[in-house]
Amino acid sequence: MEGIKGTLAVLTGGGDCPGLNAVIRAVVKTALHNGYQIYGISNGFHGLIQGDMRLLSLHDVSGILPRGGTVLGTTNRDNPFRYASGEDEKGNVIYKDMRGAVVQNLKDRGVECLVIIGGDGSLKIGYDLNRFCGVNVVGVPKTIDNDLPCTERTFGFDTAVAAATDALDRLHTTAESHHRVMVLEVMGRYAGWIALHSGLAGGADVILIPEIPYNIDSVIAKIRERQQQGKKFSIITVAEGAKPIGGKVTVARIVKESFEQIRLGGIGNKLADQIEQLTGIESRCTVLGYLQRGGSPTAYDRVLSTRYGVEAAEACIQKDYNIMVALSANRIIRVPIEKVADHAHQVPLDSDLIKAGRELGICFGD
Ligand code: F6P
Repeated sequence: MEGIKGTLAVLTGGGDCPGLNAVIRAVVKTALHNGYQIYGISNGFHGLIQGDMRLLSLHDVSGILPRGGTVLGTTNRDNPFRYASGEDEKGNVIYKDMRGAVVQNLKDRGVECLVIIGGDGSLKIGYDLNRFCGVNVVGVPKTIDNDLPCTERTFGFDTAVAAATDALDRLHTTAESHHRVMVLEVMGRYAGWIALHSGLAGGADVILIPEIPYNIDSVIAKIRERQQQGKKFSIITVAEGAKPIGGKVTVARIVKESFEQIRLGGIGNKLADQIEQLTGIESRCTVLGYLQRGGSPTAYDRVLSTRYGVEAAEACIQKDYNIMVALSANRIIRVPIEKVADHAHQVPLDSDLIKAGRELGICFGD
């Protein structure tokens, strides 16, 4: 089109996350402001494979800054390199390679660079689209789990921690009134960031994270120690990926068509049952679940999402492709996407947060 400097596209991939709309808004506004047109792709890689995309206007991103979810839609199932397209007669999923469709759909519209707002699965697909198909990509680190490398923060994490902290504050009421052990299971996959931050912010007595396999005897000893001090209740924050020493993670379900098939969940109830049996103290578990992912982003996440979105669009405009925008020492930087793809960021065992927790007498189950 005359006067248009170039064409970009944007998609949101993986689980929804507070701040997605704030990123979309910032990417679109920056692109339009610099004379670019930009396609919004519906439902993540599904829309990219199907060619389901449309040009976005300022009107499309008006009023979405405080809204949770994603106006573009998302899915954490569809991978262009392994696209589930039905089942055979034995019920096995049939996978197709749809990279050709992706390349054609972008080429047909003259898209120079694709902005992928996603977690490790989506960014790995982005990396593969670049190295195997020559598609230019720019990544934006999205996940409530904060488990991406090369960045101090993913957007959405702050909001999830705020929700989990609020839940812990509320659980204190019942814990104190009924003299119970209250367990809160939070998300986070194989990283304990949400459990660690919310546990510290919400005054948990025990924090169990995947990085430190736990010994149930240590947890029981902490609860008994509190009883001896006259504290008749205890609060435990457990990450969904926590596991006992020598044991395995608790799996909630397998999603066969997904790029990451294992969905964790269920450790909290197991733990509450075990504690009740071993101590005789009434114990209850609350699984916070999707309440951590829903709703309006915090002010911090809105600002971070906006900074990421602007930087991502600027990288596209400057043709600085195949990078992920990231946070380092509170500055926005760009890192090569291959450094991010397929790497996880767990809580380091020498984290000052763990040290601070130990000084406060918090039990980490070891
Ligand atoms: O990665 C975000 C996350 O919410 C994880 O914390 C959780 O394990 C997973 O997604 C749940 O996925 P689903 O939406 O498929 O249940």
